[in-house]
Amino acid sequence: MVMKLLITGITSLPGYKTVIEGIEKNHEIVGIYHEKIPDLKIKLIKADLTNKMLTQDIIIKEKPDAIIHIAGMGDVDNCEVEKEKCFNSNYLSTLNIVKVSNAFNIHMIYLSTDYVFDGQKGNYKENETPNPINYYGLTKLLGESSVKTLTNYAIVRTSTIYGIGIGRSNFAMYLINKLKNGEEIKAVVDQFTSPTNTTLLAKALIEIAEKRLIGVFHVGGERLSRYEFAVKLAEKMGFDTDLIRKTYINEMKWKAKRPIDSSLNFDNTKKFIDINFYETENALNILKSEYYSLKVEKDN
Ligand SMILES: NC(=O)c1ccc[n+]([C@@H]2O[C@H](COP(=O)([O-])OP(=O)(O)OC[C@H]3O[C@@H](n4cnc5c(N)ncnc54)[C@H](OP(=O)(O)O)[C@@H]3O)[C@@H](O)[C@H]2O)c1
Repeated sequence: MVMKLLITGITSLPGYKTVIEGIEKNHEIVGIYHEKIPDLKIKLIKADLTNKMLTQDIIIKEKPDAIIHIAGMGDVDNCEVEKEKCFNSNYLSTLNIVKVSNAFNIHMIYLSTDYVFDGQKGNYKENETPNPINYYGLTKLLGESSVKTLTNYAIVRTSTIYGIGIGRSNFAMYLINKLKNGEEIKAVVDQFTSPTNTTLLAKALIEIAEKRLIGVFHVGGERLSRYEFAVKLAEKMGFDTDLIRKTYINEMKWKAKRPIDSSLNFDNTKKFIDINFYETENALNILKSEYYSLKVEKDN
């Protein structure tokens, strides 16, 4: 069934990919952009989602079947420095959408993060208690709390998003750009997340919208350190793994504290979602084929 989906944050990597997947499934997409102008052939609306009246007017006028709310401030270190901006983009924008979704019973899908957890144990299930240790995680958790006041909602926690597309630089693209030129890179061995291919995340978000799923879901890849991920990526792409050097979390000059192990458990989510979003082999095969098809396009 064709749905009308309103997607926010469409100039971020996951937002852009979610639009692409939505178009492929023939849905009618309305994309909300902010400062950067996206190159997408869909209905585009410029809006600062921290502006309550503007946000609510757009949603009331568009009357989507579902809102996939991806916009937010994703730079964890910047959130520590620009706290007000982080609070506004991650929490206020979400709250503005929640209020109108509630009034019109629109299915609201909120993209959240593994960083709502403190990282003391890892392998977090969907129903475990969050305890963020940085400002970014706190603002995303506040967003979750406001979304949970709805009845018709899905909170989708994901982790360390990577892939080919637009938006901020991501770890996979950084690795590819360095390793293909024979440059050494350093990767942390003692911090674990669930690195997530953006294409698979986007497919899962569209599936959640189509199935109108309700509740908290974990969508991400297998538990890996950045070092382990770098080695697997290098092996898959045929790069020299000797270029990857080990480093440690206490050597990183990060402004925000990082959870030591914020890896996600997907056992429950897998029961509801058909797409194989969790296997590294599948995720890296997709990355490789997207990279080479883009390269062929660029070379021609
Ligand atoms: N990156 C990750 O590894 C990761 C992991 C887990 C969850 N997430 C979640 O995924 C989402 C995207 O993350 P990202 O790292 O790709 O973020 P990002 O690069 O900071 O992109 C954020 C997006 O939100 C838009 N935006 C920001 N403030 C806005 C506002 N006030 N009104 C309207 N749009 C606004 C931005 O548009 P402009 O650039 O034009 O301002 C941009 O499209 C976030 O919700 C984040 O919490 C990310």
